[in-house]
Amino acid sequence: MGREVVRLALDAGLDVTVLSRRPPSGTSQSRHDGARYFQADVTTGTGLAEALRGADVVIDCLEGRSGKARRNFADGGARLLAAAAAADVRRAVLPSIINCDQSGAAFYVSKADKERVYARSPLETVVVRATQFHSLMTEVFEAGAKIRLIPVFKGARFQTISPTDVASVLLDEALGESSPERHRVRTIGGPEIRTMRELAEVWRNSLGLRGRIIELPLPGAMGKFLRNGLNLIPEQRLGTETFEAWLAKREESL
Ligand SMILES: NC(=O)c1ccc[n+]([C@@H]2O[C@H](COP(=O)([O-])OP(=O)(O)OC[C@H]3O[C@@H](n4cnc5c(N)ncnc54)[C@H](OP(=O)(O)O)[C@@H]3O)[C@@H](O)[C@H]2O)c1
Repeated sequence: MGREVVRLALDAGLDVTVLSRRPPSGTSQSRHDGARYFQADVTTGTGLAEALRGADVVIDCLEGRSGKARRNFADGGARLLAAAAAADVRRAVLPSIINCDQSGAAFYVSKADKERVYARSPLETVVVRATQFHSLMTEVFEAGAKIRLIPVFKGARFQTISPTDVASVLLDEALGESSPERHRVRTIGGPEIRTMRELAEVWRNSLGLRGRIIELPLPGAMGKFLRNGLNLIPEQRLGTETFEAWLAKREESL
């Protein structure tokens, strides 16, 4: 999603600096002409001051899915915000996940912890809580399809959204007028709610694959979260790109 934020920001004529631990090389397709790239690590703080010098707004597209990265996720955000405050950055925008504070799953707990770091920051902050990305679904399907089985979680429905739609909202929030509320939360969801099986069928058909779709129970806090529909926000169908449209666009660009 960070790459989409960079692309849209450059299209809007903004001055863009990107930081990550492994910035893309000069010839990489992931590199956007016109952006400046810095090597920095929010876990150690290395390179943050240089990357943030002169910045007005920070959009934090970091991720830490498991293990140490997940445990360091909120602290990394705090380190980024502290460096941003020292560089006189005005505002920070954070993508997060719908209802992450309603689950005991470690991944969601780390998201809610980071939201709290943002709510305590001296900077003006906006947290944009989104539903799951279309790309998350394809990651799950692709993992199983290697052995010709496409896994879907029993009872799970999703309101997936395109990373581009989320990136566009992040950018709007980064550029919008200041609000009297120093710390705001906004929620956005994808255009449709579908069962995971329906999404798997769409994905399989779009690629012309023959793998078998198998329903698996998802135990634990994550399973409960999905079965209770806490990943959905039916009243906020703000994303415009459907799963089908996103898949078609992805196929064209490959
Ligand atoms: N995936 C979803 O369905 C979904 C839904 C809603 C919200 N979100 C939120 O959107 C955000 C971005 O998700 P994504 O899927 O786009 O993540 P992603 O593809 O994994 O990208 C994460 C980025 O963070 C950088 N990074 C990781 N650790 C770092 C560190 N210690 N220091 C500096 N950079 C670091 C990575 O670059 P390097 O590896 O080069 O450092 C990479 O550019 C996450 O906060 C996530 O919670 C995701």
